[in-house]
Amino acid sequence: MDENAYRETVFLSWVADGTIRLDDVPEWARHQAMQFDFLLRRGLAPTARVLDMGCGPLRLGSRLIPHLTEGWYYGQDINPRTLALGRQVLERLGVAADRCTLLCSDDFSLDGVDDHSIDVAFSNSLFSHLGAESVRRCLESVAGKLRPGGVYYSTFFAIPEDHDWRQPFPRDKWGRQFATRPDHDPFHYGVPMMEELARAAGYALAIDPDFGHPTQTMGVFRRLAHA
Ligand SMILES: C[S@@+](CC[C@H](N)C(=O)[O-])C[C@H]1O[C@@H](n2cnc3c(N)ncnc32)[C@H](O)[C@@H]1O
Repeated sequence: MDENAYRETVFLSWVADGTIRLDDVPEWARHQAMQFDFLLRRGLAPTARVLDMGCGPLRLGSRLIPHLTEGWYYGQDINPRTLALGRQVLERLGVAADRCTLLCSDDFSLDGVDDHSIDVAFSNSLFSHLGAESVRRCLESVAGKLRPGGVYYSTFFAIPEDHDWRQPFPRDKWGRQFATRPDHDPFHYGVPMMEELARAAGYALAIDPDFGHPTQTMGVFRRLAHA
């Protein structure tokens, strides 16, 4: 059984409705600005090669692609219809689809991305839908594509140190109540457990408090030189 519903469910499928201006939709615009501005604050250069895992319908990509040197945005997702929607979003915004490479895989494989070529990898709200085994596989796959010293920024639901990780943890995202769990989508992790997953996959983990997501924590997975 899949660990989340996204193989079937197209994330933000309502953006397919061509009657709306994406910039006027708060959830789209707010999340897009949060992701794009964060990368700029972290020094992203237009010449960087960026890999966006679980890229969805290109909420970040549609803003980032025009900013980057042609062809240096790579987006990966499990759902081909979600990627098709992303292409539709690009078309509506007048961004040429051949300015990016979109990859569909259900095992995080990244065929077509050269080894050690990526400067910055990123994912917003992917690990929140993955169990530990998948998080590790994703980290390992990205590690092979990152240049030495490259960084993978990826959000996850962190639980406080004093919370029993086996128990649900209540969340409030802009007034919407839900709970994260250790064994069920949406998944949570203690920071020490995420550190272990990072180490096993060849990274050192730090936390960046400056992302601005209402419920998720930004992990900075720095590729270890000797890994
Ligand atoms: C909450 S959405 C976030 C999308 C995008 N990062 C954004 O912020 O707009 C999670 C995305 O992860 C994708 N996803 C879920 N499981 C995946 C997997 N095993 N491999 C690749 N993508 C996956 C989903 O299809 C969906 O597009």
